[in-house]
Amino acid sequence: MLLFSFQVLLNNGASYGVLALNMDYYAMRCPFAEMIVRMTVNQALQRDPTLAAGLLRTHFHDCFVQGCDGSVLIDSTKDNTAEKDSPANLSLRGYEVIDQAKQMIEYRCPGVVSCADIIAMAARDAVVWAGGPYYDVLKGRKDGSRSRIEDTINLPPPTLNSTALISMFGQHGFTVQELVVLAGGHTLGVARCASFKDRLKNTDPTMNMYFANMVSRQCNAGDDNTTVGLDMTMNSFDNSYFRALQMGYGLLTADQTLYQDAETKGFVDRYAMNQALFFFDFQRAMLKMGNIDVKEADQGDVRLNCRKLN
Ligand code: HEM
Repeated sequence: MLLFSFQVLLNNGASYGVLALNMDYYAMRCPFAEMIVRMTVNQALQRDPTLAAGLLRTHFHDCFVQGCDGSVLIDSTKDNTAEKDSPANLSLRGYEVIDQAKQMIEYRCPGVVSCADIIAMAARDAVVWAGGPYYDVLKGRKDGSRSRIEDTINLPPPTLNSTALISMFGQHGFTVQELVVLAGGHTLGVARCASFKDRLKNTDPTMNMYFANMVSRQCNAGDDNTTVGLDMTMNSFDNSYFRALQMGYGLLTADQTLYQDAETKGFVDRYAMNQALFFFDFQRAMLKMGNIDVKEADQGDVRLNCRKLN
């Protein structure tokens, strides 16, 4: 019954292998895996709450490049520049949290729990820690061995308009509604001035004037790496991101565009009005995102160190 309902839930997209994964994958293989990840994440977030954003974003960047296969965690070598050294990934955060969980899990059950699954669980635990919805993570992903800088072309740049976003997310099997709800991940975290300074220079008319002035002051006082919250409550998972868009307070072009396009605006309004709906749709979309191009047993392995190939 449970399996059936999740199949129904996930059956409206394109390129993911539903049957490869299940909720109880580690129940017998490594029963403490889920608990170890949760404890490690909770401890890390107690020390630095801003890492919740980093963990969520890492999962997204893993899944959108070659599927959810932990490839974003692999370090570059002298022969290969890996995904994590692409400009789109240089500000990813939370690698050490994944490393720590992996180390503890390896101690308990060597060679069983994939790095890709650890990222998926850590992202969920980060969302919960920040006040967002709990959802069961499907598990059983294998780790990939390819991690190339050029593949990160599949990550959306901050300057995309809604048409381009709809198309890019559509290629991964997401509907317009799912694009909007996933963009709600920007309820957590920050962006660097480098990611939106063009909007300030050319005074983007979709940006609220007061907000533009406030953000300009912050960026002018610092440099390209100065960070500004993606919404007003950057460590709380709530629907204030959508309310910000209604006021012209979207930080990135890719945020504010969702309120300017009739196709996406209705969803923004809905989530701004109804946080429970946002939470419900978000956890469904995350489940789907976690299934993008997952590798089955013969297509990957379980890395012993998430940063290196075995
Ligand atoms: C819709 C297309 C998206 C675009 C264009 C986009 C782009 C960006 C950019 C440019 C940043 C700031 C990076 C920087 O300045 O260093 C960022 C941050 C972030 N993104 Fe996205 N993103 C998108 C979708 C998503 C999705 C689907 C999620 C997760 C579900 C997500 C989660 C995050 C989080 C949590 C942060 C803050 C990271 C931190 O504080 O370390 N993003 N995103």
